[in-house]
Amino acid sequence: MLVLGIETSCDETALALYDSEIGLLSDALHSQVNLHAEYGGVVPELASRDHLNKLVPVLEQVLKSANKNLRDIDAIAYTGGPGLAGALIVGASFAKGLSWALEIPALAVNHLEGHLFAPNLDSSELEVPFLSLLVSGGHSQFILAERLGSYCIIGESLDDAAGEAFDKVAKMLGLGYPGGPAIERLAQKGKPSAYRFPRPMTDRPGLNLSFSGLKTNVMNAIANKSLSEQDKANVALEFSNAVIETLVIKCKRAIRSSKAKRLIVSGGVSANLALREALQKAAAEEDCEALFPPLTYATDNGAMIAYVGCKRLERGDRQSSDFNIRPRWSLQDLN
Ligand code: KG4
Ligand code: ZN
Repeated sequence: MLVLGIETSCDETALALYDSEIGLLSDALHSQVNLHAEYGGVVPELASRDHLNKLVPVLEQVLKSANKNLRDIDAIAYTGGPGLAGALIVGASFAKGLSWALEIPALAVNHLEGHLFAPNLDSSELEVPFLSLLVSGGHSQFILAERLGSYCIIGESLDDAAGEAFDKVAKMLGLGYPGGPAIERLAQKGKPSAYRFPRPMTDRPGLNLSFSGLKTNVMNAIANKSLSEQDKANVALEFSNAVIETLVIKCKRAIRSSKAKRLIVSGGVSANLALREALQKAAAEEDCEALFPPLTYATDNGAMIAYVGCKRLERGDRQSSDFNIRPRWSLQDLN
């Protein structure tokens, strides 16, 4: 079965072709980073318009690089949520139109479920059950995954998501959007101990997270100061360390309480190499294996949507054509 994946939940128009027998055949992505850069964040209206313009050319690109044509596609998987309503509607309408014209099924996939299974894109099937730390621009959650489609959220951020905190701190430091990669680069030049920020909620029991206070701490530390490049690098390093150490402490706690043998770390923030290294070590100390998606599939992409769509279609999942996009769509709603 050849599945076309379509991802338009935020600021990337990303498509992919996944073959149930062979695996990933092709994937292509148009990033809107330049479009939104001057506003310091994603402008939903501009995102929707740009998806509309880029879907056809990106589709042509994935077909061409896999040496396939439209009639070879057996099914479509598109992101049905969570995400920006306008952006989701553009992708869903495109998917439904294609599905009608080609007389093939179209299935709405939960974007977060796509992230959860992204490590499967370059290795063998993830063994279930597993514990997942999902850290993206919109979510920070600990999830127990029994199997595809069965999830329990055992902890989450009470305010900002981890990626959101990276983006906001980057904006304060004048680093532009998206902030995560910029902070990671700058942090490499930072000197430790120049600043000290809190490790939020680590002194409280449980697995919930909070990054909004940390962001305010950074804001207060740099308010009304003219920062040199070295100062900015020091702030970037200590901020990253605070996020990473917090996630390490909570991950160890989650592994212990769930007795998990596998920790899957996914979502855009999982592209951070210092975070990967720290979590790998922390999991090993708890006798647990940490797995990550390939770097290119850590942030939003079409391949993870095509993959989950393929697995769901293979087991017979279908949706009626009046499925509506869901800007808020919890993993637990899939159970
Ligand atoms: O999963 P994703 O691509 O989109 C959402 O579903 O939100 O995640 C994007 C988030 C952004 O907040 C971005 O700043 C963050 O992931 N991010 C990173 C890195 N690369 C992307 N955060 C820290 N370090 C990185 N290398
Ligand atoms: Zn995402």
